[in-house]
Amino acid sequence: MEIKDLYQDLKNEQMVEFIARVRSNRDGKKVSFLVLSDGTTIHDVQVVYKADLKNYHDVSRVRVGSILAVEGVMELTPTRDQPFEIKATNIEILDEAIPDYPLQKKEHSLEFLREIAQLRARTKTFNAIFRIRSLAAFAIHKFFQQENFVYVNTPIITSNDAEGAGEEFGVVTYDQNHKPLITDFFNKKASLTVSGQLNAEAFAQAFKKVYTFGPTFRAESSFTSRHASEFWMIEPEVAFSDLSANIDLIERMLKFVFNDVLINGLAELTFLATVNEPGLVEKIQTLSTSKYVINTYEEVIEILSQAVAAKKVNFENNKISFGLDLGTEHERYLCEVVNQCPTFVINYPKEIKAFYMKLNSDQKTVGAVDLLVPGIGELVGGSQREDDYEQLLNRCEALKINPSDLSWYLDLRRFGYYKSSGFGLGFERLVMYLTGTSNIRDVLPFPRTPKNLLF
Ligand code: 4AD
Ligand code: MG
Repeated sequence: MEIKDLYQDLKNEQMVEFIARVRSNRDGKKVSFLVLSDGTTIHDVQVVYKADLKNYHDVSRVRVGSILAVEGVMELTPTRDQPFEIKATNIEILDEAIPDYPLQKKEHSLEFLREIAQLRARTKTFNAIFRIRSLAAFAIHKFFQQENFVYVNTPIITSNDAEGAGEEFGVVTYDQNHKPLITDFFNKKASLTVSGQLNAEAFAQAFKKVYTFGPTFRAESSFTSRHASEFWMIEPEVAFSDLSANIDLIERMLKFVFNDVLINGLAELTFLATVNEPGLVEKIQTLSTSKYVINTYEEVIEILSQAVAAKKVNFENNKISFGLDLGTEHERYLCEVVNQCPTFVINYPKEIKAFYMKLNSDQKTVGAVDLLVPGIGELVGGSQREDDYEQLLNRCEALKINPSDLSWYLDLRRFGYYKSSGFGLGFERLVMYLTGTSNIRDVLPFPRTPKNLLF
């Protein structure tokens, strides 16, 4: 049996048996108590045992982290926090943890637990975070599959820097002495992908609606709580679809995920509300139904400059004018203080956005959309794509991108191409938002960040 099954089948006097790990072992005068967990649910099980166990002496000395096989009888305890406890009839010690097992019963800081990532998922907090991560991933697949999107696995090794930000990790081969080989395996520059978008666009022309969900890699040396060197991104792409349909899709997808996780992860969210973020459950309930705001970039510049002029706020960067690449402080002020809700910002200046975004008729902005959310900042980045071949060539030239490297992509515009839109959802940022976690290192099972490649 799994502990999850016990919670779903509460029957007084029923015989149960299961294997689980010791969270605590308290030796009492008349009776002793074990708290056990097997990871199948956030809930622990309390096992009561007495001196009549044949190996009572050994069990009473069993250490935290050890693994036991328990046989016993369920006794319902409706007046207590825990709906039942197990009166042990037999306990077998399957394996003993050493005395300095790092996860003792006391509270550990997230920073300490980060150094033992191979163990931290055993704690309640991380168990809850990573189950929510799993549920959210499944919810995303459910949403897109229900909407008839085709799931496409775009390459991880690539020769393009889709975002043009020069933040790629190179891919090289090694000789027997682990020295990088000069002759390139692929006969050209190869790197780990920063985005599957360009390949997804090709598939969108074949299936109309596609999505990727895979790892992406960025060599940004930013030591923030929201950037990782390896993270997962969901990138839908829809042919014949414009920016406003794109915004609508982002909102529907997020609301579906919020609802789904509320239904399937309520116990975890409720627990996380007690350790990570008070009001977490209510926050997600609100997010699953409330309206999100749309602001143009120009409006945002206006709102921010007025706030600075009226001395309502003092940013580290107070020079607010058209062309500013909004910093996290600006993004957070807008959605946390001004709008107090998720906020779509659209139509950014072309200079601060990627080459593939659709140039608007004003010739200075592009059909971009970022979704900014309280506590996180940018959660989603997307756009309508430039569909004009010549215009796209111009943008390549302006940004010093060699068009011959991307001819397969540019050519899509010559083989019948009518509007295409899509976005990238940073999966870890979504999990942070869903679990009230403030550092991206705590929502990645084994995080990779600058100067940090452990496990
Ligand atoms: O805004 P970005 O760079 O957009 C793209 O990559 C587009 N190709 C997406 C598309 O239109 N198909 O990245 C998308 C999202 C960001 O909004 C952010 O949530 C997340 O990816 N992200 C990161 N998450 C963690 N660590 C990093 N270093 C991230 N960089 C971006
Ligand atoms: Mg972005």
